[in-house]
Parts: sequence; C-alpha cells; structure tokens
Amino acid sequence: MEPTPAEFLDALWTVTAECRRVLNPGGSLFFNFNDKYNSAASNQNGLGATLQGGSHDSNRIGRGSTVDLVPVKSLLGLPWRYAIGLLDGKAGGEWILRSDMIWNKTNGMPDPARDRAARKHEYLFHFTKNGKHFANPAEVVKLKSVWDLPTESLLLPTGSGKHPAPFPLAIPAALIRGWCPEGGVVLDPFGGSGTTALAAWANGRTGISLDLSQDYSTTALRRSSDPKNRERALNR
Ligand SMILES: C[S@@+](CC[C@H](N)C(=O)[O-])C[C@H]1O[C@@H](n2cnc3c(N)ncnc32)[C@H](O)[C@@H]1O
Repeated sequence: MEPTPAEFLDALWTVTAECRRVLNPGGSLFFNFNDKYNSAASNQNGLGATLQGGSHDSNRIGRGSTVDLVPVKSLLGLPWRYAIGLLDGKAGGEWILRSDMIWNKTNGMPDPARDRAARKHEYLFHFTKNGKHFANPAEVVKLKSVWDLPTESLLLPTGSGKHPAPFPLAIPAALIRGWCPEGGVVLDPFGGSGTTALAAWANGRTGISLDLSQDYSTTALRRSSDPKNRERALNR
C-alpha cells in the first residue's frame, strides 16, 4: 500500500530488520515474494512505479532509487531488489543468502498478456544470520530449488470471503521441518490466513501469525487449531 515501490521495499527492509532482531542466531528467514509490472493503470492510481521517481521525502532509503524509474510495461524486479537490499546491509545487519527458490504454480491464474511469457511462478528466498544455521538434513535433502505446487484458495470461516493469496501449506510445512528444530518458534509477520502458523503447530513448533487484518488473524487462530487442517499439514 506504499505510494511507490521504493517505499514498499524500504518498509519491507524495516520489518526484516525487526525479524533479524528476534531471530535465533542459528535461525533462518524465508521470504515468499511475487513481482509486479509497472503498468500505466497503476501509475494513474498512484500505485506502482512512477516515471518521476516518486514523491517520497529525502529521509527515505528509496529516494532516487532506480525501482521508481523503470519504464511502463517493465517488471520491477522487486523480489531480487529486496534480496539484494539484504545483502547490501539494508535490513539490520549482514545476511547470508543461502538460496533462491521458485514456486512453480502448476495451476496458476490465466495470464492475459500476449506479448511475453505467461508468469506462473513466485520466488522464495532463504537467508541466515550466520554460516552455521540449524538444518535438519533428513528433511532438507528432500527439497529442490523448484517447487511444483498448485495454488490453494481458502474460504474464510469468519464469513468475510476468501483470503486473496494464501500460499500452499506444503511450502511452510517443508521449510519448518527443514530449518526449525522441534519445539522451536516460527514467526510470520505477514501471516494472512495463518498457513505458516498452522504448519508450525501441526509439526510440533510454536507458530506466531501477525497481520494487519483482525479477520485474517482470527482465521489463522481457527485454522491452526483445527484437527483436520493439522492432519493435512503433516502430509509430506
Ligand atoms: C500475501 S498475504 C500472506 C498470505 C499468507 N502466506 C497465507 O498463506 O495466508 C500478505 C498479508 O500481509 C498482510 N499485511 C500487509 N501489510 C502488512 C503489515 N504492514 N503488517 C502486517 N501485515 C501486513 C496482508 O493483510 C496480507 O494478509
């Protein structure tokens, strides 16, 4: 909801720095991120990139950032800009980028574009605070850098419709089994419908789900205590 992409990245780096503050020294940070285009329509709304370089004030990291200058129709490159920001020390300290991964959406939404390849993937990044982070080799060896998984839609039990963008339960479940010790704590600062918290509780970890929306957090609480959902989160 930030007015410019540079401010969006700035806000994410600020949140990431807070995540770093509470992250165990041997812990991992995973970020799931979709890119977007600079479309003429989004400029009219004041969203997306602006060709003028944005309207943010001089204290912002993003002022004059190239992300606010990409031409209309171009991808903004947000996932990689976010990741490179972490490598450049913009999120609370020195991060190690252990891997980039691709979620290949095997049933992705139709993409109306006819002059470029249809986008059917999102990025996942794995960061650590140091080179000796916790990993569970028996689980990690099962994972490849490309994840073929369908999208999942979710009806909110609160009666307020669907959450627009839950990720498949298999993503946080596998990451948690791979990089969080049993009994450990998993925090999702953009928890939405609570898929991460559900995967954590079902797999014997403590899950904490934060969201701007009270409705989504209520859903997260309900989902993660439901025995059927927990059973699904255990399927490997
Ligand atoms: C893509 S969704 C996450 C979906 C989640 N992975 C799931 O499976 O349900 C991003 C969520 O971040 C929340 N959000 C956006 N900005 C936020 C902020 N500044 N603080 C907390 N939550 C925020 C939105 O309400 C939205 O539910």
